Amino acid sequence: MSLSREQMLVEMGITPIWVLRDEAPVEPAAAVSQVVPAEAETAAAVAVVAPAASPPADFALHPMTAVDTLDWPELARQVTDCRACPLCEQRKQAVLGVGDLNPDWLFIGEGPGAEEDAKGEPFVGQAGKLLDNMLASLDIVRGQRVYIANAVKCRPPANRTPEAVELAACAPYLERQIALLKPKIIVLLGKVAVHALLHDDKALAALRGKRYEVAGIPVVVTYHPAYLLRNLPDKAKAWEDLLFARRLLREQMAPELPF
Ligand code: URA
Repeated sequence: MSLSREQMLVEMGITPIWVLRDEAPVEPAAAVSQVVPAEAETAAAVAVVAPAASPPADFALHPMTAVDTLDWPELARQVTDCRACPLCEQRKQAVLGVGDLNPDWLFIGEGPGAEEDAKGEPFVGQAGKLLDNMLASLDIVRGQRVYIANAVKCRPPANRTPEAVELAACAPYLERQIALLKPKIIVLLGKVAVHALLHDDKALAALRGKRYEVAGIPVVVTYHPAYLLRNLPDKAKAWEDLLFARRLLREQMAPELPF
């Protein structure tokens, strides 16, 4: 089923359409020439994030092979076979990610749920439907220009929040994905993704609206779609975050254009 943009925004619960004061009205191609600079406070907020901390010394289960030199097939194989943390015990399968291997956008969630564990693809349940609608509102289709991954690749039992040691065990895989994908913008969906990549556990509300940076790539924080399903009014804030991310992406793609 193909939905119009208006229908998609209705689906996301965002009507009337929200347009940021400094955001050019829709029309993607024309809008490129109307890129505006990130606000001064945004520039000041840039944070260059150090590589993930190593797993704790008492953590015996490391990935067997160094991950930072793997190509995609080797990475996929190693994730499939991974036994680096206890999450491997109850998974049906590891879920590496899905999408364009040369993407503009990288969205990172928390970890697979039951449906993702069964299907082997991230965000295929209710939260995934909302994520697809969020993508559609940016004129993006799953699989084109976007890659979707999770902080942990195996389903935590009963969908509990992944623990720090599990995030640390999976961090090399996420870092390698970022290095191979070289996205132009990364969007972190929810607190766990923020914790995994930015090592920051402040409240999400305090983290939104700022530009972070990982491996030279701009990073934006927004709410997790599952949270948005329970907190409908915050969908408008998520829409603002996506517009902010799109502005940063356009700056990446056309830095020479006058603002
Ligand atoms: N929630 C996530 O964070 N990731 C998924 O893949 C599904 C639900």
